[in-house]
Amino acid sequence: MKLCTDLPAWRALRGNPDWQGRSVGFVPTMGALHAGHVSLLARARAENERVVLSVFVNPTQFNDPADLARYPRTLEADMALAAPYIDAVFAPAMEEIYPDSYRFQVTENDVSSRWEGLQRPGHFEGVLTVVLKLLNLVQPRRAYFGEKDWQQLQLVRGMADAFFLPVTIVSCPTIRDHDGVALSSRNRRLSAEARAHVTQFPALLRSSPDAATAAARLRAAGFDVDYVDDAGGERLAAIRVEGVRLIDHVTL
Ligand code: PAF
Repeated sequence: MKLCTDLPAWRALRGNPDWQGRSVGFVPTMGALHAGHVSLLARARAENERVVLSVFVNPTQFNDPADLARYPRTLEADMALAAPYIDAVFAPAMEEIYPDSYRFQVTENDVSSRWEGLQRPGHFEGVLTVVLKLLNLVQPRRAYFGEKDWQQLQLVRGMADAFFLPVTIVSCPTIRDHDGVALSSRNRRLSAEARAHVTQFPALLRSSPDAATAAARLRAAGFDVDYVDDAGGERLAAIRVEGVRLIDHVTL
């Protein structure tokens, strides 16, 4: 496994004859890997001749500077977890990804303004912009995204279609803990008590007859509810627990 922490090193590796004409599978992440990411890596390994993991904590998608500062940075542990599945890790520095100081941005005018977009202004511009940059640098045949970030997945797919990107966006099912809680790097910021209580989040999303009832039941269970909404056969929701924002979705 090769670690490339700058663009020249990455470009040298990507241009290597050994990588030419081979299918490349790409898993973009912000690190703090868990079993959910591993499921993407395993799928990429099964479907491609080369697999690349990117680890880049993208500042432009954080609307809260405190959230960015708190985001876990665990490159060594991430590499150890990913090692069995990957050929390379691309972990560039901020300045290299934004030589334009974020003057150029990808904007979407419909889906991005709902749900997460309402709560986190500018979030999806940051996500789409960095994903486009990473796809251009990595040039994968397939890129893997988790269904947990359902809205992100729809937007990335939409961008790939709109700009005729030569990549297949592959979606992978949400991985849940034994108690039903969707895996997320944010879960590790919860106290043991809150982590136990958060099992109610997917349970109430599933058992409630409609979105309004689910929101009311979540509030009654003590959660701060950002939104619960039913759309396209999915129930999407975000809550706050101990200041940690968690999202989930269930298929109706
Ligand atoms: O889902 C994530 O971890 C991020 O939004 C992504 C796709 C890596 C872009 O920074």
